[in-house]
Formats: sequence, structure tokens, C-alpha cells
Amino acid sequence: MSERRALVTGISGQDGSYLAELLLEKGYRVFGAVRRSSGENLHRIQHLLGDIELIHADLLDQQSLVTMLRRARPHEVYNLAAQSYVPLSWEQPMLTAEVNAVGVARLLEAIRLVNPAIRFYQASSSEMFGQAREVPQNEDTPLHPRSPYGVAKTYGHYITVNYRESYGLFACSGILFNHESPRRGKEFVSRKITDGVARIKLGLARELRLGNLAAKRDWGYAKDYVRAMWLMLQQDRPSDYVIATGEAHSVEDFARLAFAHVGLQWRDFVRVDPTLFRPAEVDHLIGDATKAGRELGWQPTVRFPELVALMVEADLALVAAEVRASRGTQIRP
Ligand code: NAP
Ligand code: GDD
Repeated sequence: MSERRALVTGISGQDGSYLAELLLEKGYRVFGAVRRSSGENLHRIQHLLGDIELIHADLLDQQSLVTMLRRARPHEVYNLAAQSYVPLSWEQPMLTAEVNAVGVARLLEAIRLVNPAIRFYQASSSEMFGQAREVPQNEDTPLHPRSPYGVAKTYGHYITVNYRESYGLFACSGILFNHESPRRGKEFVSRKITDGVARIKLGLARELRLGNLAAKRDWGYAKDYVRAMWLMLQQDRPSDYVIATGEAHSVEDFARLAFAHVGLQWRDFVRVDPTLFRPAEVDHLIGDATKAGRELGWQPTVRFPELVALMVEADLALVAAEVRASRGTQIRP
């Protein structure tokens, strides 16, 4: 069979690293777009560096996207690059729009000009539902984004749909609900909690400061979600899909389970910090992935309690290794 080539933007992020692993397992030649950084930011894909090919490109730079496509000549492009942290989008709304909204148009334009046969995946978000008009949310639920991030992702979603309808591109938008893993950035609440629990358990911290404990999210496992991205690009026709577990839990539930996993009571350690509340909150997200089940054969394999447990275990191991390394440093002459 002829070589299949895939290109992943955002390959250094949580999802990019798992997607690269999946594509390699499936025999793809994998290219990853990275932006230049003054420091090391490839820790999530360190173990893959011998197997993937990195190209410098930035969603802010149109020409770099064209050059990247000409070099990699991909059959499939997965656009996972984004300013993905919702609170920062109030501090940097313009940057968020440039990357998460206009950046998608730049990449679609580059595809249209270089090779319109490329299959395209856009990383859309349940944050677009925002103040959700119905429960659970599916592909037809009206959008009401509540953050500059959500507004920018809404543009990214519709420009993807528009390029499909205008130019016949094989362009899919995956509307993914929150998905987590031990590779999640520590600024997101799931990983902030599991890292905090590990530090408290191992005596490195005494409390964990959180914002809105009442917010509810539909939390799944990132490895399950990247499988859905790949499945979307293997179909006969392009479409949009909600990917979710169909269960919602509060931030408080997450904290309770994570502390309980190490034999502690969350109330003894969690402090509510009003400065961590958002100017506008998304209170309750829960997804209906019936279409993905029916058309893609996709189902989540990891449920909430298992997800919390695997993340706590991973952070316990990481923090313990940090402690051992720092003791080693101290006794060195
Ligand atoms: P992440 O860990 O924050 O990764 C984001 C990636 O985007 C990083 O590789 C980052 O590179 C890259 N990036 C940022 N700005 C860029 C730019 N201007 N040009 C090129 N690359 C840029 O995010 P994630 O959790 O893996 O999420 C992947 C995608 O899915 C994002 O688009 C996110 O918005 C979307 N999404 C995520 C979830 C979720 O729950 N995780 C749910 C729905 C949608 P650096 O390493 O250089 O910063
Ligand atoms: N980050 C964070 N930190 N969130 C907190 C905290 C805290 O200390 N305390 C409470 N929360 C609440 C937030 O107010 C929010 O309601 C919820 O926890 C989840 O916050 P995040 O983990 O930051 O995720 P998010 O839902 O805002 O955004 C993530 O999911 C989106 C999909 O719905 C990101 O991955 C986005 O990129 C993604 O699109």
C-alpha cells in the first residue's frame, strides 16, 4: 500500500502527542507543526522524536502554513493548534482570535491552494455551547459561547463548515467535550487537582486553591478522543461530530474523588479563591455522542472514576520522582 502521510498542528500539546502515537501505530508517516520557542517545550513528544518529522510553522503566519503543506504533502491534516486556556482568552482576546479563529481560515486557505484533496480535521469545542440551550448538547444544539475562546472556536467551526460547503473540501469539525490525561497542562482544573492531591499526599503542599466548584463538565480520556478524530477522516463523507461521554460531574466531584483516592477528605485541603472565578462561566456541559456512535462506531472506554484514578496515580508517581531527584541533588557534593 502507498505511504499515508498525516500532519498534526499542535503536536506538542496533550492531544497532539496522543494523536501522533495513534497515527504511528496505524503506519502513517507523521509530520508535526511546532512553533519556535526559546525553551524546551517538546516534553510530551520526546519519546516520538525519532519517529516523527517536525516542521516550524505558526497559525499566525500564512506563508509558513503553505510551506509546511508543500514540504509534508499530507493526505490528512489535523488542526489541534490553539490558545486553549479559556481564562487567558479574556486577557488576550485578540491573540486568541488570531490563532483560534483566523488561524483556521489561514490553514484552510493554504489547503485550498496547495492541495484541496487533503482531508482536514478542526478541533472544535463544547465551549461553543456555552450557556447551553438544551441538555445534553448535540450537533444541532444552538451555540452561545461565553468566552473569547468560545467565540473564536465558533468562527473556527463555521469556517470549516463553510469551506466544506463552498469548495467541497473534506473538512470535519469535531466538537469535543473536555478530555484529560496525565499529559494535561497543569493550569486546567483536572490536572491542577490531581497534581495538588499528589503534592499534598507527599507532604509538599498544604492546600489547593480552586475557583468555581459547582461547574459541571463532561470529562473523558484524551486517548479515546484522538481515536474519534482519526475515525472522522476515514469516512466516505465529511461531517461534524460531538464527542463526549454523556455524563457530567462537578469540579467538587472531581476533587472529592481525587482526594479520596489517596485516603484524604477534600474539604480539609481545598480553599475557594474568588480570584479564580471567570467573568462569565459555562455552568453545565454534557454531550450527546449518539451520531459518533452510530456513524463512526466510537464509544468512550474510560469513565469518570477511572479517569480521576489514573490521573492521580500518574501524578503521585511524577511528584515522588521529583522528590527523589531533589534529594539526589541535595546529597551530591
Ligand atoms: P494544548 O495541550 O494546549 O495544545 C495546544 C497546542 O497548540 C500546543 O502544541 C501549542 O504549541 C499549539 N499552538 C498554540 N498556539 C499556536 C500557534 N500560534 N501556532 C501553532 N501552534 C500553536 O491543547 P489540547 O488540550 O491538546 O487541545 C488540542 C486542541 O483541541 C486545541 O485546539 C483545543 O482548543 C481543542 N480542544 C481541547 C479540548 C480538551 O478538553 N483538551 C476540548 C475541546 C477542544 P506550544 O507547545 O508551542 O504552546
Ligand atoms: N482552570 C481552572 N482552574 N478551572 C477551575 C478552577 C481552577 O482553579 N476552579 C474551578 N474551575 C472550573 C472552571 O471555572 C470551569 O468551569 C471548569 O473548572 C473547567 O475549567 P478548565 O479545566 O480550565 O477547562 P474548560 O472547560 O474551561 O476548557 C477546557 O475544555 C474545553 C472544552 O469544553 C479546555 O481544554 C478548552 O481548550 C476546551 O475547549
